[in-house]
Amino acid sequence: MEYLEWFKLVERFQRKFKEEELMSNESLNIGIILGSTRKGRVSPQVGEWVKGIADNRKDANYEIVDIADYQLPFFGTTDGNEPGIAAWNEKLASLDGFVFIVSEYNHSISGALKNALDLAREAWNNKAAGMVSYGSTGGARAAEHLRGICGELLIADVKTHPTLSLFTDFENFSTFKPAELHLNNVNLMLDQVVAWSGALKALRK
Ligand SMILES: Cc1cc2nc3c(=O)[nH]c(=O)nc-3n(C[C@H](O)[C@H](O)[C@H](O)COP(=O)(O)O)c2cc1C
Repeated sequence: MEYLEWFKLVERFQRKFKEEELMSNESLNIGIILGSTRKGRVSPQVGEWVKGIADNRKDANYEIVDIADYQLPFFGTTDGNEPGIAAWNEKLASLDGFVFIVSEYNHSISGALKNALDLAREAWNNKAAGMVSYGSTGGARAAEHLRGICGELLIADVKTHPTLSLFTDFENFSTFKPAELHLNNVNLMLDQVVAWSGALKALRK
């Protein structure tokens, strides 16, 4: 076989492999979880930005999941029969992976996100997660706390972690204007979340 023919054959196989990979990932559902619920929060702006980048990839189904929609009671203060708790667990169960939008509150995650994490167990297990955090130091301290929680909930948190600064990626700490340089990191993080979400699916069968 001539070199050119060989080259074309390899190229065809590579294209087919890529198409199959994309098709198998298409069924992955990734939830972009807004990690704050306070009035005036900026997390929806950050979540929509991540979703825009994610949707362009066409490698999974991405959706915003807003904790505020579920009206979750504070863990342990009720009998646990609220429809919001069941709906929250159902939503998480329908997802193969997560991207947490993490705001830093007192060097940790918000109470609302911690409560939402506590209100489910199996629905988190054996799934992958990425984090996009923000704060005065990029929300790094909050995200590191979240990594510890992920371990306990059997959530595989990926390495790449975009960190946004309240000083340089927001105007007046309220209007989100992300610097260009974060785009690459968000895509790297999503590469890892999609790969691990696909791989971990096998564990849950
Ligand atoms: C109770 C509280 C504590 C906060 N503590 C921190 C902090 O420790 N470090 C930090 O960088 N920002 C801190 N901030 C600033 C938040 O990161 C900032 O307000 C951010 O916009 C919160 O996210 P949200 O708008 O999505 O709720 C705090 C804000 C609040 C309301």
